[in-house]
Amino acid sequence: MTDNTAQPDTPLSTAMAQVNPFRVMAVMQRAAELEAQGKKIVHMEVGEPDFVTADPIITAAKLALDAGQTSYTQAPGIPALREAIARHYQLRNNVEIDPQRILVTPGASAGLMLLAHLLVSPGAGILMADPAYPCVRNFVHLVHGIPQLLPVSAQSNFQPTLDQVAANCKASTSGLWLASPSNPTGTIVDREELHKFSAFTAERGLHLLVDEIYHGLHYVDELASIVEVTDKAFLVNSFSKYFGMTGWRLGWIVVPANYIDKARVLAQNLYISAPTIAQHAAIAALDEATRPELERRREAFRQRRDYLQTALQELGFTLPPSVDGAFYIYAGIEHFSDNAEDFCAQMLNEHGVAITPGTDFGDYRAQQFVRFAFTTSMDNLELGIARLKKALA
Ligand SMILES: Cc1ncc(COP(=O)(O)O)c(C=O)c1O
Repeated sequence: MTDNTAQPDTPLSTAMAQVNPFRVMAVMQRAAELEAQGKKIVHMEVGEPDFVTADPIITAAKLALDAGQTSYTQAPGIPALREAIARHYQLRNNVEIDPQRILVTPGASAGLMLLAHLLVSPGAGILMADPAYPCVRNFVHLVHGIPQLLPVSAQSNFQPTLDQVAANCKASTSGLWLASPSNPTGTIVDREELHKFSAFTAERGLHLLVDEIYHGLHYVDELASIVEVTDKAFLVNSFSKYFGMTGWRLGWIVVPANYIDKARVLAQNLYISAPTIAQHAAIAALDEATRPELERRREAFRQRRDYLQTALQELGFTLPPSVDGAFYIYAGIEHFSDNAEDFCAQMLNEHGVAITPGTDFGDYRAQQFVRFAFTTSMDNLELGIARLKKALA
């Protein structure tokens, strides 16, 4: 038997001491074990759409395969896709972006990794919310930067405030990284705040990075993108969530014009190019003809959010002031427990409901929160709520 618990023989990189595994993986593994025993588990821990990728995208991929599109592409991505992404910003945000500023990446993950290499020096501080998507902190650690975690709560809609950013900005701070809508809280940064953060970072000589991977999956009429506010910020997006293409591993970044050349060099070195077939498929994802299906899916998420918000509140969970985007609800469990990990283990083992403890997303009051993902059918959500009701009665 392979012993994967033995210590490595030679030293690991020092950064590895800071990089934690996702607790949600342990939840998923335990859920799989219970399922293997024949138990029905309600999955509300998974951070990906439960829909299969839309047909026109799959058809485009098949055509690309038949046409023999199996080689590397240019490092920043195929021109047709970068032009389609630029058109997307023209249509959705009324902003002209030079396709040269767009680099297609293997998921937002590679985009974030590239930007960490591009922008973060050893010892440099990066301001970011706590809670936040955990990999972001880890990417900063891996380049020996220092995540400067800003505790956020319901008072500020789980997003950093300008005062907080200003108060925590030190001589060693080099950037501010935001996510709107946020994982795990589903809350957004509005246009006015984006303007404030943009002005502040420009004045202090900091870079500004905004992760917009859940754009499209928003439930407010209007969601501002950082590209509407400034052409000096770094934007990260992906085909994973709104476009329902998690397994295709495709995202993009938009960089200021004077960073294009260096970003290209990094793309060449880090991954050569993003998956070719996925790039051809993604052109169809951005086609207006695919949009009605993607919007139907968004509407399904909205209905699930409406249901889950009300149901969780009725059960006694504490909810953020608004869940305006993504497919998560970050719910306070203070009426039930002061240990989110124990709470999640109990809900899974005894009641067959899989959710993620707040400790996956940061340190600040993390044991008092759990994340519900509404990435499963309404029937499953109703079953999950019925089980929680019984468990918490
Ligand atoms: C906020 C955020 N950023 C980035 C990612 C990475 O996504 P991907 O690499 O699939 O594009 C995720 C994935 O869940 C996320 O939640």
